Amino acid sequence: MSYAPFDWLDDEARRRADAGLVRSLRPRPAETELLDLASNDYLGLSRHPEVTAAAAEAVRTWGAGATGSRLVTGSTALHAELEQELADFCGFESALVFSSGYAANLAALTALTGRDSLIVSDAGNHASIVDGCRLSRAATAVVPHADPEAVRKALHSHGGRALAVTDSVFSVDGDAAPLAGLAEVCRGADAALLVDDAHGLGVLGRGGRGALEAAGLAGGEGVVATLTLSKSLGSQGGAVLGPDRVIRHLVNAARTFIFDTGLAPASAGAALGALRLLRREPERAARAGAVAVELYARLTEAGLTAVRPDAAVVSVRAPSAESAVRWAADCRTAGLAVGCFRPPSVPDGISRLRLTARADLTRKQISAAVGTVLATAPLPVS
Ligand SMILES: Cc1ncc(COP(=O)(O)O)c(C=O)c1O
Repeated sequence: MSYAPFDWLDDEARRRADAGLVRSLRPRPAETELLDLASNDYLGLSRHPEVTAAAAEAVRTWGAGATGSRLVTGSTALHAELEQELADFCGFESALVFSSGYAANLAALTALTGRDSLIVSDAGNHASIVDGCRLSRAATAVVPHADPEAVRKALHSHGGRALAVTDSVFSVDGDAAPLAGLAEVCRGADAALLVDDAHGLGVLGRGGRGALEAAGLAGGEGVVATLTLSKSLGSQGGAVLGPDRVIRHLVNAARTFIFDTGLAPASAGAALGALRLLRREPERAARAGAVAVELYARLTEAGLTAVRPDAAVVSVRAPSAESAVRWAADCRTAGLAVGCFRPPSVPDGISRLRLTARADLTRKQISAAVGTVLATAPLPVS
């Protein structure tokens, strides 16, 4: 009898190829001529000498790996220092770091809800939130995008424990969530508010303290934030921020904390180095936002359709999935790396180029990026 348990993968691969949806890896060289508007290195810190030196120092002091889960051997003084400084900077009582932002979202959603809970989740939320909702076993109501009234109705349909969850800045279109309205409806329903500030930290709020600080919600009793250390802080890892009793609960109940090796010392050191740099150079945060607004203004003045950016992500509409893919490829050939989103990764069916502004882009680089996007655009632009 033949044994071929993976034959079905060939059919899947064929279907994917027919739909033009094959994804493949493209290892990048250490040095490249490409102008990067595709990464999430919003503040240009991933290669900053102070940040890389902090990573190297952490490796020398603590070793290459954390050596175990946080509750066994994986907690170091460095982790504690990072947690303390993250909480202080963002205005929360306590913080807990994870090996990724993905793990942080899974932790918050699974440990703060349960079978009898309701999660109300924005339709535009990140995949890690979607997966956290699934893993939590809570009932999940997916509500229309950025709609506090829909959240209110969903919360009031449920009698027990409830939590509303939203990205602070949505990763596809770069628009901000209506945090004040969401906080109000959560207070009215005695529900918790969980905000994923992956794209707000380092860009929004005073000196980059994040979207919750900007909205005056940081440190609120019913408010919990999740972060990634991999975007503005140029490192790797994630965090949950919230009241002390929430963080103590996560230490005892969050499976992606308990059963995962602690954040690598290099990542913790780099994130701490980046955080200290941002404290000293708060102007970096506003600069990333200003670059995004300039990119948006110049592209839309020339006739392209884009979403006005609330942080550092600029989303430019493409007429079709095929043209978006071709547009991104043409940009690349012309020396500009940009992101490309198309169905099924965008459930609304709209294909876009996704440009990320960086605080360290020069005037010349901004002009070059705008020139390339316009010169390669599939639509006639003025
Ligand atoms: C909104 C949002 N949340 C969470 C994550 C996951 O963070 P990480 O890459 O650190 O796992 C990302 C991106 O990667 C994101 O864009």
